[in-house]
Amino acid sequence: MGTALIILAAGKGTRMKSDLPKVLHQVAGAPLLIHAMDSGAALDPERIVVVAGHGAAAVERAAKDRDDTAEVVRQDQQLGTGHAVRMARPALDGFDGDVIVLYGDTPFIRPETLAALAAARQVHDVVVLGFEAADPGRYGRLVTHGDTLERIVEFKDADDHVRAITLCNSGVLAADAATLFDLLEAVTDDNAAGEFYLTDVPGLARARGLSTGVVRCPEAETLGVNSRADLAVAEATFQARARARALDSGVTLVAPETVVFAHDTVIGPDTVIEPYVVFGPGVTVENGALIRAFSHLEGCHVSRGAQVGPYARLRPGAELAEDVRIGNFCEVKNALIDAGAKVNHLSYIGDAQIGAGTNIGAGTITCNYDGVFKHRTEIGRNVFVGSSTMLVAPVRLGDDSMTASGSVITRDVAAGDLAIARGRQENKPGLARRMFEKLKAAKAKSRKGA
Ligand code: UD1
Ligand code: MG
Repeated sequence: MGTALIILAAGKGTRMKSDLPKVLHQVAGAPLLIHAMDSGAALDPERIVVVAGHGAAAVERAAKDRDDTAEVVRQDQQLGTGHAVRMARPALDGFDGDVIVLYGDTPFIRPETLAALAAARQVHDVVVLGFEAADPGRYGRLVTHGDTLERIVEFKDADDHVRAITLCNSGVLAADAATLFDLLEAVTDDNAAGEFYLTDVPGLARARGLSTGVVRCPEAETLGVNSRADLAVAEATFQARARARALDSGVTLVAPETVVFAHDTVIGPDTVIEPYVVFGPGVTVENGALIRAFSHLEGCHVSRGAQVGPYARLRPGAELAEDVRIGNFCEVKNALIDAGAKVNHLSYIGDAQIGAGTNIGAGTITCNYDGVFKHRTEIGRNVFVGSSTMLVAPVRLGDDSMTASGSVITRDVAAGDLAIARGRQENKPGLARRMFEKLKAAKAKSRKGA
């Protein structure tokens, strides 16, 4: 029997003080919503329904972008979490498996925790994910009796006795679809907030003699984002975990606290990452690479033994084969750099292909953009590109060719040829000395006049 995820993402997130819907704010380069979808993905859900409200069109785009099978339903007025889940009912018409409700603003629920929740569903009709809160604050409280969850009481509705409970509601709940939607029909807005609470479901289930239980997880997993400060905490939490994971998997981080990972960064063992390296989304680095200080990588692949930086920038589509060297102040975009090729100093390589063993001299630029179109530069194997060559694309350099320093290459160069494309040098004997004398005399004269 399959599982359906319902992800609640309709809230505005007033405290974010943002035009962007809260669930689209990013942690580690991905919207909060995507983190929630990814943790839910561990359950291999048959269906995913996202309940959107504020900024629904943008939320829908983000959800579909991640998983085009995700369905997005609208909740035009935010009348409460119970009301939000009800909105998913039509989308799940005919579905008779289990439903797990997640919040789109709660990015850190671990897959293992959701697996435990799914397992507990074998025992109980309704299962809620709870946590022992260091400071229970305004969380809903779980009122238990032995293994049974008697009911959830929202903070606003709780008396002092209930407020003293430290076992809190994370918001994650599991039940089979028919039971859940049936119980939700009975939920009213007769409470302190005037909202339809999802949290009324366990109490209603108990009243019908159904079995209810709690699965506990560490508080850190239930971290929700309501403000920019929370977002910063979430980012820090993500980074701390990502660094620990990298170290644990055999990656050397010279100064771990200075390295920033994206949600999907993959790094092989025996790679060394120097201080202040930033990974944007979509980076894979194979084993035994060296990423030197102050480099910025996104949407790229770095193969075994390659060295990048210091101060290098790899942009989307940069593909470095084994043992490639990309040095300081080089930028590479949408370019395949083949094995052992070197781009060591101050270069821009965009929309290009560079053959194995080729050396790109300092200050070389692929002039890939004519103001309207992008064009490709293709460079063969074992080519020597002289320093400060401008490669005006589209252009090709054949294998074993060379360009002279300072050349502006506008035509293809055949294999084995040397291209020189610059003004010829002319030396004027003694002219520099005579110029200096003349200029100095002019300066002295103007001082006297002043
Ligand atoms: C909720 C729980 C509370 C729990 C806490 C954990 C209820 C009634 N209370 O309280 O027990 O301890 O979360 O953080 O469920 N949402 C919608 N539509 C709505 C209302 C909310 O999509 O009409 C979404 C929000 O965008 C958010 C999530 O549901 O992602 C939770 O809503 P929120 O208003 O934050 O609930 P809390 O008051 O924090
Ligand atoms: Mg909340």
